Amino acid sequence: MLADNLKILLASTETFSLKSRNFHWNIEGSDFPQYHEFYNSLYTETYATVDIIAEYIRVLDSYAPGSLTRYAELTIIEDQTKIPRAELMFAESLEDCMKMCELVAGMFDVATQERQQGIANFMAELQDLYSKKAWMIRSILKTDRE
Ligand SMILES: [Fe+2]
Repeated sequence: MLADNLKILLASTETFSLKSRNFHWNIEGSDFPQYHEFYNSLYTETYATVDIIAEYIRVLDSYAPGSLTRYAELTIIEDQTKIPRAELMFAESLEDCMKMCELVAGMFDVATQERQQGIANFMAELQDLYSKKAWMIRSILKTDRE
């Protein structure tokens, strides 16, 4: 059960990270340097978690999926084949961050039930990572204070 969830998380993280790198390369606008840098951090920091997730799958004595076909089957994050304008990129990344938060919050509970405290800890760290990124994107998207 937990290993299956970790496979979904692995595929979703790969997709999230790939999409962030796509946006890092292709974003445009007057705040380009900051946007480009933000997406650099987003893909780097999320990509850094991929190997840890895969190795936890192995710790649980299951095999880690490592192919694009399997990722496409397992991911909860939708692929983006177009180049949206900056605002739409951020809106999409915000939605994806919230999906990742939801996923890891549920997995924290599963890990705790299965007495996998290390994995539960790591899920808590991931929830922190994605909720902080969501806060930053909300702040980027905010134009005026009501
Ligand atoms: Fe770069």
